[in-house]
Amino acid sequence: MGKLEVVLTESEIQKKIDELADRINRDYAGKELLVVGILRGAFIFMADLVRKLEVPVVVDFVAVSSYGDATESSGIVRIIKDMDESVAGRHVLLVEDIIDTGLTLKYLYDYLKARGPASLRVCTLLDKPDRRQVDFQSDYNGFTIPDYFVVGFGLDYKQLYRNLPAVYALPPGGEEETCLQGQGRRNL
Ligand code: PRP
Repeated sequence: MGKLEVVLTESEIQKKIDELADRINRDYAGKELLVVGILRGAFIFMADLVRKLEVPVVVDFVAVSSYGDATESSGIVRIIKDMDESVAGRHVLLVEDIIDTGLTLKYLYDYLKARGPASLRVCTLLDKPDRRQVDFQSDYNGFTIPDYFVVGFGLDYKQLYRNLPAVYALPPGGEEETCLQGQGRRNL
């Protein structure tokens, strides 16, 4: 049976979130921030991040789907739930769990930019640059990782594993039989 291998521990993730929040607090000092989480994957990262922010924060969410239950992106981004807040004239921070092909963030960035925010930046926990199909860079990125299929801390495989407190790699081909016995650690 395959094992989930720890890629990033809880403490590594929390330390990184502290660093990201420090930068965001400095950059947005004196401003109100509209933090927009991309469901479903960003919900845990965003919950931890906003609790470290010291500027006035309003939260909102968009839900999109590009992967469905597949491990490969369909390449088509669909908005399932739009924002409730208006974007015009506001400082907007899009929060995402991972940039892979870049299709999701590129689409949403362009979509929100067209609504006239005062500023628009992106904060991501993970970046897999090897997988990029469109040019897109995060303004605040936590970790750059190799092309593992990762789960945990909000990230899923077939909607499972989002609740795991750390980030794990799914062994290639072993997805259906994976269990949570792995205590190994990959070098990044
Ligand atoms: C995942 C992830 C990002 C997106 C990144 O979402 O949460 O939103 O893929 O991939 P990309 O850079 O190739 O677009 P998914 O569609 O699996 O939905 P989820 O957030 O509900 O897990």
